Amino acid sequence: MLEIRDLHVSYGKIEAVRGVSASASPGRITLVLGANGAGKTTTLRAAMGLLPVRSGEVLLDGKPITGRPTHRIVRDGLVLVPEGRQVFAPLTVEENLILGGYTVSKEKAAETMEQVYEMFPILKERRNGPAGLLSGGEQQMLAFGRALMSSPRAMMLDEPSMGLAPTMVESVLSSVRSIADSGIALLMVEQNAEMGLEIADDVVVVARGEVVFSGPAEQARQNSSVVRAFLGEAALSS
Ligand SMILES: Nc1ncnc2c1ncn2[C@@H]1O[C@H](COP(=O)(O)OP(=O)(O)OP(=O)(O)O)[C@@H](O)[C@H]1O
Ligand SMILES: [Mg+2]
Repeated sequence: MLEIRDLHVSYGKIEAVRGVSASASPGRITLVLGANGAGKTTTLRAAMGLLPVRSGEVLLDGKPITGRPTHRIVRDGLVLVPEGRQVFAPLTVEENLILGGYTVSKEKAAETMEQVYEMFPILKERRNGPAGLLSGGEQQMLAFGRALMSSPRAMMLDEPSMGLAPTMVESVLSSVRSIADSGIALLMVEQNAEMGLEIADDVVVVARGEVVFSGPAEQARQNSSVVRAFLGEAALSS
């Protein structure tokens, strides 16, 4: 289980994250919603050790991992699929996967790679081609695969559907559901609130660096005015 407790993160004098708490349980998806600049990416990057935490705690299965170096956090079992996917374009699909498995044994990496190829057959087909030639949706699958290579217990996803065609959004989000169903705890930031809510179990809404709503996705689905109130009418189309 991943728990972020009362996290504070600043950029110099600017307090971007002011007491955010969010958690994700194995097999479940916690959806993090919030307007542009609300502090979503900052929260994930700080939890991952990529930004300094000013105060608060990040726990993985009850063990504090706050402020550890990122490679240690990956070894502990938490991984981030960053905004914009950030695959290594000139490297092959398989080389990208291998890089994701650097914290585990060769045997474990080989075993996981087969599972990744089973989950995303297109990656197997393109294994020897450069990652940069994949479509946006395929690059997102590669980013998921690369993250899975470290055999994580918890995974954070930053806007996985960003910039994808509507049909691809659906397929990427259904992959996210499958990843959670395999027993991994997922914390997902998603701009597409409506689609995100379809697969989420729990929801956290962040505004100006603070949590303004936290509860079951069912509640947000049934009472979309709750989410609308915090995100603005544009967030939900129906
Ligand atoms: N490197 C930085 N230096 C200074 N301020 C930053 C930096 N990165 C982000 N900020 C500020 O911190 C706040 C939170 O940014 P963050 O990127 O976490 O928001 P977000 O919720 O992920 O937004 P988006 O939906 O646009 O991705 C914003 O006000 C942003 O301008
Ligand atoms: Mg962001």
